[in-house]
Amino acid sequence: MDEKKVVFSALKPTGDLQIGNYIGALKNMIKMTEDYDCLYAVADLHSLTVDCDPKLLRKRSYDFMALFLAIGLDPEKCTLFLQSHVPAHAELAWILNCFTQFGEAKRMTQFKDKSAKAPQNANVGLFAYPTLMAADILLYKADYVPVGKDQMQHLELARTIAERFNNKYSPTFTLPEGITGKRGSKIFSLADPTAKMGKTDENLNGTVFILDDPDTVMRKFKRAVTDSDATVRFDPQNKPGISNLLTIYSVFAGVSVEEAEREFAAADYATLKTRVGETVVEYFRPIREEYARLIADKGYLESVMKTGAEKASYRAEKMLAKVYRKVGLVR
Ligand code: TYM
Repeated sequence: MDEKKVVFSALKPTGDLQIGNYIGALKNMIKMTEDYDCLYAVADLHSLTVDCDPKLLRKRSYDFMALFLAIGLDPEKCTLFLQSHVPAHAELAWILNCFTQFGEAKRMTQFKDKSAKAPQNANVGLFAYPTLMAADILLYKADYVPVGKDQMQHLELARTIAERFNNKYSPTFTLPEGITGKRGSKIFSLADPTAKMGKTDENLNGTVFILDDPDTVMRKFKRAVTDSDATVRFDPQNKPGISNLLTIYSVFAGVSVEEAEREFAAADYATLKTRVGETVVEYFRPIREEYARLIADKGYLESVMKTGAEKASYRAEKMLAKVYRKVGLVR
């Protein structure tokens, strides 16, 4: 039988989807549906690790599903679902917690950053975030996980946990491989080109959201922080702002970074910023329109969620039963 390799990825609805999510993860996720057996989730349970308004969480879960569809993820070609609709994720996460060392979880950079940023809410869920993520991936025996660079450490931990479990019992989990794109595995904030662009950044002028209207997109790019050197050159070390703009342009114009560099060799910064902004606006125009159509059709979105959850649950339950049996739980 010709079995396709399995791909899993997820995005958490703590803020609106931004172009860093698109370049780092979503673009590869779309491409991989051509050749692989792909499962993609809205990681709503992960959202609870940060302070989250219930109404907004619910709204964003629909938004994410509508955007998944609008960017071209086809529910006929892949499985799209909400993480909380498949209880096996939380159940396996508990088991995996018991196979993860305290020291390993404590070393995670994301945990250290997030707990330092919000010490008043350094909750146990935030600490156990990577084991829930490992459960997401391992439940489906995913071979590949398309993500941005910031998630690679979590991927490594998922492999460590899987290996530990396999060695203690018998081969159960597939060791997943993180897949990052050739370029853009880390897109930087337009307001601070040394920091990652994030959907919950304090300075939202630095984050371009997929659903931002054209004027907002243009304004954000025109204000992008650059340098005073006035030559357009790809040099992430010395010219992080310009290099970030060239990367973003190359992705949305469908050219290489070298081609982008040549195209703007004689241009001033204002021209570059305007051209990048216009390219992003045009790229997302049909997506924004399709989103507007889909978000008005809650019934359809719910039917996609339901079908996806059924398909995912069927597979997840089989894995969970196997794990329960191996560790000695009576079924
Ligand atoms: P989240 O929602 O924070 O990010 C979603 C994806 O977008 C990537 N990303 C970026 N890539 C490039 N440049 C950026 N500025 C940028 N910002 C975000 C992230 O690397 C990620 O791939 N923990 C995951 C959600 C998750 C998950 C999983 C992922 C839950 N379970 C299982 C893979 C497999 C996260 O951080 O999502």
